[in-house]
Amino acid sequence: MDELRAIAARVAASAAELVHRRRTEGVRVAASKSSIVDVVTDADREAEDLVRSMLADLRPTDGVLGEESGAASGTSGLTWVVDPIDGTVNYLYGIPHYAVSIAVVEGDPRPDTWRALAGCVHNAATGESFTAAAGAGATVGDRSLTVAPAVELEQALVGTGFGYTPEKRAEQGRTVAALLPRVRDIRRMGTASLDLCAVADGRLNAYFESGLQPWDHAAGALIAVEAGARVVGRGGVPADHRSIIAGPPEVVTRLEALLDEIAPLG
Ligand code: IPD
Ligand code: CA
Repeated sequence: MDELRAIAARVAASAAELVHRRRTEGVRVAASKSSIVDVVTDADREAEDLVRSMLADLRPTDGVLGEESGAASGTSGLTWVVDPIDGTVNYLYGIPHYAVSIAVVEGDPRPDTWRALAGCVHNAATGESFTAAAGAGATVGDRSLTVAPAVELEQALVGTGFGYTPEKRAEQGRTVAALLPRVRDIRRMGTASLDLCAVADGRLNAYFESGLQPWDHAAGALIAVEAGARVVGRGGVPADHRSIIAGPPEVVTRLEALLDEIAPLG
């Protein structure tokens, strides 16, 4: 487990260094994905290639599931789940809040069935490196991470994010409009993996979103759990593309109940 965590941290640091360097050299949008606002840059692709080649050297029998180049299966039963730049829009605009996210999971690379073993979320702009291994705790740099104490929702700073399609955003906007008067405040910082690390470090009391991809939350969810968070999907299922809620257990229970009231599951 320690070795897997060290590999995640080392590979993420190398990719983050590349991503940051490319940012200082100027960013070019390479293509749009699900909508005109969902972009991929040359640096996303280059960083994912670097991660894949490092993993091929260090862990040749493991599979890889990456945001930009899809799935390559292995024979070991382990899969590395990779987001080369989480927070691509921040990256494009030079907002120093984007990360390389790398996790290694056991079992089918599906969030509702896998078991995350180790992971790293490395903020490429600030150099903060969040890591965790299953059962061994979470750290940022040399410091252990612990979630904030439980609070009532009216005192909770709640992070969230939005998808890329207009229909999804309209629905998410309605939920946020109903939630905002009931909590301390809302943050939309633009990088799901770092939102989960913020929960792990008590910088947010809770985080929720719907429509995430596996690579957005694989590493961050493990880091949050190892810091004492509960990370679940709505309606008693594991977190996956449908929904994710993270925070201290009592806060997650309260937030889930409020979401059920203001945005009932269909
Ligand atoms: C996005 C970010 C954002 C979240 C979106 C994700 P990307 O990932 O994590 O915070 O709200 O749901 O798609 O596109 O920057 O890798
Ligand atoms: Ca992402």
